[in-house]
Amino acid sequence: MKQGDLVYSGKAKSLYRTGTEGELLVLFRDDITAFDGGKKDVLTEKGSLNARVSACLFSLLEEHRIRTHFIRSLDDSSMLVRELQMIPIEVIIRNIAAGSMVRNYPIREGTLLDPPVIVIDYKDDSRHDPMLNDDLVLALKIVSKDELLRIKDLALSVNIVLSRFFEARGIILVDFKLEFGRYNGELLVGDEISMDSMRLWDMKTKGSLDKDVYRFEKGDVLAVYRQVTEKVLKR
Ligand code: CDP
Repeated sequence: MKQGDLVYSGKAKSLYRTGTEGELLVLFRDDITAFDGGKKDVLTEKGSLNARVSACLFSLLEEHRIRTHFIRSLDDSSMLVRELQMIPIEVIIRNIAAGSMVRNYPIREGTLLDPPVIVIDYKDDSRHDPMLNDDLVLALKIVSKDELLRIKDLALSVNIVLSRFFEARGIILVDFKLEFGRYNGELLVGDEISMDSMRLWDMKTKGSLDKDVYRFEKGDVLAVYRQVTEKVLKR
């Protein structure tokens, strides 16, 4: 597999051409950032932990007939994916109130959200990813009405599969972020599903097993990422 030209470099991943039309290589780097890039570090091994978890969870979704951009892992830190036409929204699914939901609204951390709450943010760092609602998504012509319904439906299906998977491993899926893209007229799950994009709590202690350990300096982030990776890979 040839690592061709760099197509895009984000906060924690880089995308490269591969020589095959419609396929890209995603490299998960060791960079970790929080608070809109206000806090950054490099943690050796972090990229490979997130890449391996992402690969495993994308495969799990595919087994449940949820299409994703994942084709196959290339090595511990990189994967081959389908090139999508990305939709500039972040779809956040919340099962338990935490993070910005608790900061911005009068709800106590840990409150069960049933049914789950879907929040859609506009992906634009310069505007700090403002929250959208259905009317705004349609007014901005980001997606069609039908696509919006399908995105929400897919997000809820992903939530069911992932919540069950983590529950069986003693972990609560508190909330997580998905990104979607178009591929030959179909909607696919893209980006990553990792400890950087999910909020995970230990079922017994309710302790954080995700990027909150880094954000709020709650302990050894690499040790926690390793612990989750071990549980996820033991399928
Ligand atoms: O993480 P924070 O409290 O700032 O934001 P949130 O809206 O509570 O995040 C909800 C979930 O989406 C968390 O699992 C975040 O890690 C994830 N997220 C993400 O992966 N990327 C973003 N740009 C925003 C949120």
